[in-house]
Amino acid sequence: MLAQPLMKGSPVQVSPFDVERLRRDFPILRTSVRGKPLIYLDNAATTQKPQVMIDALRRYYEAQNANIHRGVHYLSELGTKLYEDVRQKAKDFVRADDWREVIFVKGTTEAINLVASTYGRSRVNEGDEIVISGMEHHSNIVPWQMLCGEKNAKLRVIPLNDAGELLLDEYERLLTPTTRLVAVAHVSNALGTVNPLRQIIAMAHAKGIPVLVDGAQAVPHMKVDVRELDCDFYAFSAHKMYGPTGIGILYGKSSFLQDMPPYQGGGDMIKSVTFEKTLFNDLPYKFEAGTPNIADTIAFGATLDYLQSLDWTTLTQYEHDLLTYATEQLTEIRGLKVIGTAREKAGVLSFTLENIHPHDIGTILDQEGIAVRTGHHCAQPVMIRYDVPATVRASFAFYNTREEVDALVRGIHKVVEVFA
Ligand code: ALA
Repeated sequence: MLAQPLMKGSPVQVSPFDVERLRRDFPILRTSVRGKPLIYLDNAATTQKPQVMIDALRRYYEAQNANIHRGVHYLSELGTKLYEDVRQKAKDFVRADDWREVIFVKGTTEAINLVASTYGRSRVNEGDEIVISGMEHHSNIVPWQMLCGEKNAKLRVIPLNDAGELLLDEYERLLTPTTRLVAVAHVSNALGTVNPLRQIIAMAHAKGIPVLVDGAQAVPHMKVDVRELDCDFYAFSAHKMYGPTGIGILYGKSSFLQDMPPYQGGGDMIKSVTFEKTLFNDLPYKFEAGTPNIADTIAFGATLDYLQSLDWTTLTQYEHDLLTYATEQLTEIRGLKVIGTAREKAGVLSFTLENIHPHDIGTILDQEGIAVRTGHHCAQPVMIRYDVPATVRASFAFYNTREEVDALVRGIHKVVEVFA
């Protein structure tokens, strides 16, 4: 997280962070693309994976595979233990109170849909309001829009200033007796803004309104403490934090989860079933119908162990320095405009370059082995807010280096030459 404003000419410190040693933990970083060493700057879309996670996935299928929560045989009991251990690890990672508050889902999108379908459907009625922000990913817009359509409720949107920061005085005005939920990103995937969550949550709570946080872009960059934030729900995906795809977490306060109806019906989410009546299971299983993604969950456990072994104070400072350096270097390029200049940012550097289409920039960078994302980043309202069709987005992880930023700058100079 950036503690200071990103200003041109601000001092860039060198952190005591052994990035070369950490890079060795990620085998894909040793590969080449189009004959050039891979420079992977698309970490907000998905991060690369450490060898320990890849090994855990392989080990599971080679030696541990069985269904869980169902068998009395050795492999089933082993799988159940490995799987449930990950719930504890995830609980510790976000410092939740209780393992029952950790629900395994496919990812952030499913976590938000789960809350919209259960809490939303049971608590939101005609004329009620849901407050989101103008920088949300589609996954934190569309489920609420669908709910509002179904219930004849209203979606309210917190506006942004030109830097990409939420206007908190406008937010205050949006919190009314009919507001049923605030759903907001911790870090914007399109702008990199780190939102002042504690303040946002405290303002909602002062009016008795619960808050859901889309934490997908925050957990890879900073230590999150759900108790300190006092959020009611916090959603995140494993694959954006060096874990496998297809697994994510919904953290929810048990006081909310207890009262919410189930999300899906099926095996494992029940205590007993007759044709007349079903008794639902206790937390967290009430929300986990069917055979879960056992393999990826267990592999995610290896990632969580890996992340817990890192020094997050140094890691966060290193990423801050890298983003500052990249911002300084890119803003030197004539015609380049950074989209998203909030005082607090993490991980993301979005930009446009004169009237060159971002897809053309991405294609030329790809020829240099540099992976960036171009497009609307599943945040079309952000593009509308800045009146651009798309941006180029370089997004960073702790394994990126200044040399990679320098290569990005050289690549952009090539783009400029091509279009001169
Ligand atoms: N949400 C992902 C991104 O921002 C896919 O690229």
